[in-house]
Amino acid sequence: MIDLHCHLDGAITLEIAKTLGNLQNIELPAKNDDELLKKLSVPETCESLNDFLQCFGLPLRLLQTKEGISEAVRLVQENAKSQGLIYLEIRFAPQLHLINGLTQEEVILAALDGLKASELHTNLILCLMRSDHNQDENLETVKLAKKYLVKDEGVVAIDLAGAEALFKTKDFEKEFSLARDYGIPFTIHAGEADGAESVKTALKLGAKRIGHGVRVNEDPELLEYIVKNEIPLEMCPNSNRQTKAVSDMTKYPLQEYLAKGVKVTINTDDPAICRTNLKNEFSYIEKMYGITSDQKKQLLLNAADAAFCSENFKKYLKENILK
Ligand code: ADE
Ligand code: ZN
Repeated sequence: MIDLHCHLDGAITLEIAKTLGNLQNIELPAKNDDELLKKLSVPETCESLNDFLQCFGLPLRLLQTKEGISEAVRLVQENAKSQGLIYLEIRFAPQLHLINGLTQEEVILAALDGLKASELHTNLILCLMRSDHNQDENLETVKLAKKYLVKDEGVVAIDLAGAEALFKTKDFEKEFSLARDYGIPFTIHAGEADGAESVKTALKLGAKRIGHGVRVNEDPELLEYIVKNEIPLEMCPNSNRQTKAVSDMTKYPLQEYLAKGVKVTINTDDPAICRTNLKNEFSYIEKMYGITSDQKKQLLLNAADAAFCSENFKKYLKENILK
């Protein structure tokens, strides 16, 4: 299996949180595992992406030192490896890890250290954050992405995460214009909490993939464009269910997109926050939408094709999926 859309701060499980707490002498604000689990995952009452984004406080508190970040990256990879993943892309926003005085560059270097400590083939995506008072921080992330950009086994791309409905994609032209000038590939969260227009803007800005994109079917012409231009969608079913990106999961457009030939991929988004993992995402779509083993293979081949990695490694991934 392959996960192309996994946030570091959304992947801090109960076990990882305890390890990070011990490592950094941070007392966890819970009397027992049940209480801790509640603080590390989304409540049933979640009504929107904005609600969902409130759940990242505790995981982010554990990710403010070099050791914490490195160890978290390693442990998230180990978790993925133990479930049978053969490739993983971990994303994080360096600007969210500066509370204890680290610089964005130190955050990236710490994550790169963690990457080296696991055998799972993993790449890093640096997230810019949607807000209206952080352009300097976002531009710094783009510049650092350029400095550390590699084809494989390191920083391979950037992204735009955060509250899509509150801070529109069109307001990030300056950041992605710079990324284009630097030749940095990017994906953008779009068509999740905002509609088709946000996806159109992301594609105009030059996004190579779309994070979620579940709402592209609001615009049939856009859907056609996505098929024709083979734009991969990083779909995350349980996250979409919890953020109410789709109000009725029986109408989730997965089979519709596959039938039309969209390059759909299946991912976790925030496995710990969503209380899921990639195996569970595949079981969910098998049960809910009758995804067959051939379709699962197609979803994995799509992910291999869409991966931000070297051509050589893509070839290896595809051979591995087909064997
Ligand atoms: N950050 C973590 N998960 C996210 C999501 N689903 N959408 C936007 N930003 C996020
Ligand atoms: Zn995401």
